[in-house]
Amino acid sequence: MTFNSDFLWGGAVAAHQIEGAWNVDGKGMSTADVLTAGTYQIPRRITDGILPSEHYPNHEAIDFYHRYKEDLQLFHELGLKAFRTSINWTRIFPNGDDETPNEVGLQFYDSLFDECLRLGIEPVITLSHFEIPYNIYQKYGGFKNKAVIDLFVRFSETVMKRYKNKVKYWMTFNEINNQADAHDILVWTNSAVQFSQGDNKEEIVFQAAINELIASAKVVALGHQINPDFKIGCMMAYVPIYPATSKPEDQMAALKMMDRRFFYSDVHARGVVPSYIEHLWKQKRYSIELSDEERRILKNGTVDYIGFSYYMSGTVTTNSTSQGMPVDVYPNAAIVKNNYVQASDWGWQIDPVGLRYILNVAYERYNLPLFIVENGLGAYDKVDSDGRIRDQYRCEYLKNHIDQMRLAVEEDGVELLGYTPWGIIDIVSFGTGEMEKRYGMIYVDKDNQGDGTLERKKKDSFHWYQKVIATNGQDLTITSINP
Ligand code: BG6
Repeated sequence: MTFNSDFLWGGAVAAHQIEGAWNVDGKGMSTADVLTAGTYQIPRRITDGILPSEHYPNHEAIDFYHRYKEDLQLFHELGLKAFRTSINWTRIFPNGDDETPNEVGLQFYDSLFDECLRLGIEPVITLSHFEIPYNIYQKYGGFKNKAVIDLFVRFSETVMKRYKNKVKYWMTFNEINNQADAHDILVWTNSAVQFSQGDNKEEIVFQAAINELIASAKVVALGHQINPDFKIGCMMAYVPIYPATSKPEDQMAALKMMDRRFFYSDVHARGVVPSYIEHLWKQKRYSIELSDEERRILKNGTVDYIGFSYYMSGTVTTNSTSQGMPVDVYPNAAIVKNNYVQASDWGWQIDPVGLRYILNVAYERYNLPLFIVENGLGAYDKVDSDGRIRDQYRCEYLKNHIDQMRLAVEEDGVELLGYTPWGIIDIVSFGTGEMEKRYGMIYVDKDNQGDGTLERKKKDSFHWYQKVIATNGQDLTITSINP
């Protein structure tokens, strides 16, 4: 058997993309609640509070908050062994700095986890998945402020103590390295930081990130005291960068780009700031606040495993005449299309071999167990007149990635804890706010305008994945499910 008998075949979502009920039962406003809907071409916007004229797709999402029992029943039928979701900080501490937690919010996750366990599904929990209490932005300016470290630790301690006998697998910050490029929306969702004119964005992101890494290390150490059996990981977005040619400068540019993203897992896993980043801070005269005591905290709070998402690879050239998207890590570096791979309708390069590649690179770099906690194809699905959703393309995407994951385990000896494909049920897209960028194996009747019955339907991929799990990844054939 390639995969151990306890391999965690699962599915993943995040609270703000699925729960809805954004202002119900004492929940406070979060950074996700002020994100408008966008499209592939039109970016989502951050509004100044909630404006009645705007459509906020996360406010209702797919109403999992009220329908979780029905949905978990479907996950159980699918055979899921693990369900990755997040705890919405604002259900527990509506403002982030409240004196006492909201008991009704705590009870919601009690019921959710109890139901998972009753159905034999292991909850895998992210503490912060792209949503932070809005008050933390307004009052503290987000994670660039050191005061937020202990607010996050208090939230984490509260839920880790409460669910210490229900949840074993935790992750601290979702895709913490996604803010590396200082992209406005990604910095907002990761750190609740908005830039002002004249800000040195890169320096601010480094400070916010260091504060998050300290918070994470504190939570890892504390979590191990709360329950020594806890497995606490980080969560990275891994996008391997290939050099466009064998030109040495292309190779250097690829290395520099990879380092910028690896910085985060280097700190999480090794407990020290890597020398290439310390050097960069000096070179650029950044004054990042990081005391000796905080360095000790980083050292004492290294993670048990590396959780990561994998959707695509990227390619970098240093050919100055290229029409690519410039990146400033190396002279003339620009991201270009890779002609050897296809792309999704949203332009994400589909590269299954890249998954095996990054599994190898990350395992060699950290020698820690790995957990693929997101992977999947965002696609337009169509309900046929007979009610079926024939999403063979999704099965193919997943099959090709599972094949490479198998090779990484079998041929390369990578230690892999599990695989939880993204959006096991259709949810609101994080990047665009669309409902119609669907990842699920369960269809949800809702469109980009927010219209629909919210009815759930099994897609063809549901039956395919059911068989994959039942055979512990041995039978990946697709044709048999499509009579
Ligand atoms: C990851 C996030 O970046 O990718 C998820 O952790 C997100 O929250 C997923 O939904 C897919 O991205 P998108 O933009 O297609 O929803």
